[in-house]
Amino acid sequence: MILQKKFLRDEEYSPAEDTFFVADYIEKEKGLSALDVGSGSGYLTKLLSENFAFVVGTDINFVVLKNQTYSTKNLVCCNGSDALKLEFDLIVCNLPYLATDEILDAATDGGKDGFEIPKKIFDSIHKNIKMGGKFLFVTSSLSDYQKLMDYAQKLGLSPRILAKKKLFFEELILVEAMRHK
Ligand SMILES: C[S@@+](CC[C@H](N)C(=O)[O-])C[C@H]1O[C@@H](n2cnc3c(N)ncnc32)[C@H](O)[C@@H]1O
Repeated sequence: MILQKKFLRDEEYSPAEDTFFVADYIEKEKGLSALDVGSGSGYLTKLLSENFAFVVGTDINFVVLKNQTYSTKNLVCCNGSDALKLEFDLIVCNLPYLATDEILDAATDGGKDGFEIPKKIFDSIHKNIKMGGKFLFVTSSLSDYQKLMDYAQKLGLSPRILAKKKLFFEELILVEAMRHK
């Protein structure tokens, strides 16, 4: 039996501004394999399925994954991509990026500087990006996104800001990080 921890709410994260921000970019992407980390409702995983031959979605929340609104075939419940040995052309993640003292909601809370949970995800996924492949992630002006980009670099990725989008109380930041080693 899988025990749902307190910080894992049963409700999925409904597609929101940050979801659509990534969606605008990934609908132009094509390739053989893609991974959506933190699949949530499955909105982005399903979108990837239109242009990639093989798509996997992962999420740390089993109940959410099991009851996805936009369900797809290959779903795995794990931290980041811990359970996967495959390498993907594209990995996307709409990160839980909010800077928070505690992790009270796994869908949104990133921990100190909005770095703690994203770091766990980066540590897990960087081995699953094909050489020359890329990792696309969303973060925000409400977190220390420079720290996140510096960390991606340390892992052998080349991060660059692709786009920014101003919302009422924050700026969303879309980062593309290519794997070169
Ligand atoms: C901001 S929501 C994004 C959901 C969906 N991808 C979207 O764009 O609407 C973040 C998702 O990441 C999941 N998550 C949080 N920590 C995770 C981890 N360490 N590994 C995998 N998934 C995680 C949450 O359960 C949540 O579904």
